[in-house]
Amino acid sequence: MSHYQTLWRSCFSPSLRPVTISGVRSTARTVNRAQAGGAITINKRRLLRDLNAISRIGIGDHGGITRLVFSIKELRSRQFLIHWMRQAGLQIYIDRIGNIFGRLNGANKEAPVVLVGSHLDTVVQGGKFDGTMGVIGALEAVRTLKEQNIALRSPVEVVCFVGEESSRFGYSTLGSSLVAGELHGKDLTHATDAHGTNLAEVLAGLGINRRNLRSLRRDPATLKAYLELHIEQGPILEAKNKRIGVVTSIAAPTRFKVVFTGQADHSGTTPMEMRKDALVAASEVIVAVETISRRYSRMEKGRVVGTVGAIRIEPGVINAIPGKAELSVDIRSITAAAKNRVVRLIQAKIREIARRRNLGLKILPLRQEDPVPLDKRLVHLLKDCCEARHIDYEVMPSGAGHDAMQMAKITPAGMLFIPSRRGISHSPLEWSDPEDICLGTELLLDSIVRVANEKV
Ligand code: GLV
Ligand code: MN
Ligand code: MN
Repeated sequence: MSHYQTLWRSCFSPSLRPVTISGVRSTARTVNRAQAGGAITINKRRLLRDLNAISRIGIGDHGGITRLVFSIKELRSRQFLIHWMRQAGLQIYIDRIGNIFGRLNGANKEAPVVLVGSHLDTVVQGGKFDGTMGVIGALEAVRTLKEQNIALRSPVEVVCFVGEESSRFGYSTLGSSLVAGELHGKDLTHATDAHGTNLAEVLAGLGINRRNLRSLRRDPATLKAYLELHIEQGPILEAKNKRIGVVTSIAAPTRFKVVFTGQADHSGTTPMEMRKDALVAASEVIVAVETISRRYSRMEKGRVVGTVGAIRIEPGVINAIPGKAELSVDIRSITAAAKNRVVRLIQAKIREIARRRNLGLKILPLRQEDPVPLDKRLVHLLKDCCEARHIDYEVMPSGAGHDAMQMAKITPAGMLFIPSRRGISHSPLEWSDPEDICLGTELLLDSIVRVANEKV
């Protein structure tokens, strides 16, 4: 059994008592519909308490949170969720990779399900809201529906997808890709972490291999829709003074690794004209990614963003010329044509740099995806939900990736955003106002009720 399997199974060991959070009463106040003048109100205190409890898992000295996929911290966060789902009386189902589904039945148990959720894994030194708010918000919405006996026709399932972040393997939306049947063998070839652990090996330890990659795929006929609440992770809502974003489409990335191979050599004795320095070539690439992406970075249609987010060099010491440099490149846009054009220009430039500097070069594809439009009827429904609560909203695309982009391939998908302070995310400085978190969760709840009860 793999190390990961052992850890994961320990989450279900009867000897492991459910986690309780000291100093907080679990019977927090619930406001009912009558008190709220018609609109359903969630238990805000419980929502914020649970969000804070999860955020303590993986927190570092400077307030950054690190729960990389398949790490002990990430498993621990999923264990909390399972515990709360049990307490809420949801029917729990966990698939082979560890995606967790907590089901509340509606009047028709056989009806297609309204799936609602996000992810609990984080980047390195990330914030407490990215993903977590969507999972805990979905849980709170469903708990409220159950407690207040709100009539539902379709079942509702809270979902926590495994490994939405690409920070460890360069592979994003792992769990939702499997559920959507969108994980392809070729995507796994170069998906390794900084320690050389291969994603394919981790998956094999869980019984997922190239032959059964589609075995976790959910039959689209069993789904009615997918809804996700998320922080915006950008500056638009704050700049426009809007409390809610209704998402129309999601930008998708093309990602690849670049490996330059030169010659490691003595930094004192090797004349400048005899060097084959892989790091200097890499630095040219970093600047080229910025320069070319900037040329296409207009804010309107066709905006492209490009980032070199990670670099590794060998031998990486002060007195040796770097003989090897490996960079990760991430290019995104809402428009496939614009993105593909920038990718072509950048890759041509990289080849030119390698030729000019006489270096070995490999460009290793990680993942190539197309931007994803979200369901138009759900956009209307979400706008309606905002209007019913007299909330000013912005209709907008998402620059960040989300599990919704995979789910949209098998079911109508809709997303709500709440503002991020100063637009900052993937950083310890990530922050969203508790009032906005509660509002987003209540709108999520409204939309669940409508999707579960109406023809969508
Ligand atoms: C997910 O947060 C992403 O990288 O867009
Ligand atoms: Mn993220
Ligand atoms: Mn996220």
